[in-house]
Amino acid sequence: MSRLQAEHLYKVFGRRPDEAVAKLEGGTDRDELRTDGTTAAVIDASFAVEAGQIFVVMGLSGSGKSTLLRMLNGLLEPTAGRVLFDDQDLTALAPRELREVRSRKISMVFQHFALFPHRSVLENAAYGLEVQGVPSAQRKRRATEALGLVGLAGWEKSWPDELSGGMQQRVGLARALATDADLLLMDESFSALDPLIRRDMQDQLLELQKRLKKTIVFITHDLNEAMRLGDRIAVMRDGRIVQIGTAEDILVTPANDYVASFTQDVDRTRVLTAGAIMAEPEEALGTTTPDGTVLRTESDIVAAAPATVTADTPIVELFTPCSRSGVAVAVTDEEGALIGVVPRARLLAVLGEPEPGAEQEADDGPDATAKGPVAIKASKTAQTPEAPEGKVIAGA
Ligand SMILES: Nc1ncnc2c1ncn2[C@@H]1O[C@H](COP(=O)(O)OP(=O)(O)O)[C@@H](O)[C@H]1O
Ligand SMILES: [Mg+2]
Repeated sequence: MSRLQAEHLYKVFGRRPDEAVAKLEGGTDRDELRTDGTTAAVIDASFAVEAGQIFVVMGLSGSGKSTLLRMLNGLLEPTAGRVLFDDQDLTALAPRELREVRSRKISMVFQHFALFPHRSVLENAAYGLEVQGVPSAQRKRRATEALGLVGLAGWEKSWPDELSGGMQQRVGLARALATDADLLLMDESFSALDPLIRRDMQDQLLELQKRLKKTIVFITHDLNEAMRLGDRIAVMRDGRIVQIGTAEDILVTPANDYVASFTQDVDRTRVLTAGAIMAEPEEALGTTTPDGTVLRTESDIVAAAPATVTADTPIVELFTPCSRSGVAVAVTDEEGALIGVVPRARLLAVLGEPEPGAEQEADDGPDATAKGPVAIKASKTAQTPEAPEGKVIAGA
């Protein structure tokens, strides 16, 4: 069962919001509503977030991301639709119950660090616990631990203005972690940071996540950040979710031209993995190594391969081995069993540069990628048709 679910969420600001929802359901678009002063900030958003996942919501400024996030923790009441958290309908809770859930189970980390200037770093990190009414000694202990987790041990007694921007944002993160809430909602949390520090914070979040396995909804307008962090990514445009999938799904099978143009500048070699582009092992059978050996068995393939990698290896790491040898790179599973091969021609084809004289791939099917001649396996999540959040294509 999913940890968090949004079901047909709408948020309309302005006059007669219910009427506006009915119109939107009937196909009226957002711009038409705007002419009479009504803003449809979120339109029919549905998705599910699994426990321990980082779910990224990505979209340009004004696309409705923050409004969506605020509905997830009940700070904003949806105009229509439901939010289920651990199977509890947040939209049906009384205000007191909702506050209780919010203070114990959900933490927010904002773009601006929102630290109290006249409180020490430790007191800032302990703030969420104070709101929960946790006794002082315990507060101190847990906030100290959380500061340790984000690499700020030793800074407990400092003041916020003695810290760099990156460090202040770590305090914000520590505050969220100290409460033990296992749903973290992060709204452009790293967007105000310089690029290098931002990357550090992304790494740190991924590192922490390996240990803590929180359920995280992370909002960003930055596609590269979305791709680095997201187990799954929802792309928003003008209030609607236009696609949900893994970074690979979004790169390889964009739901529409809008998503495709968004992803144009992404460095595919770092996002696509060996597992996404590999061919069946049989494809390497019968090839000849530079010293004249013909590969006849799977163990021949593994023995002759210029490198052996796992399915999650980014393809950027395959260039050197592929350039050294005409023989395919071997892809193996955790037990070392051969699960696929990446011949050089395939690697080049993914990048849209077919090797001179290379034959067209035979398996170009209807699911072939829009760009480039190679059909790339989209991940399982996107292929499951019954998954309600499998792929939402609205206004495509
Ligand atoms: N309280 C509000 N009242 C009226 N309009 C709002 C309010 N909050 C947000 N909006 C509008 O809703 C749309 C989506 O805003 P927002 O969710 O903040 O987008 P994002 O976070 O993606 O930048 C924008 O057009 C914004 O102006
Ligand atoms: Mg926002």
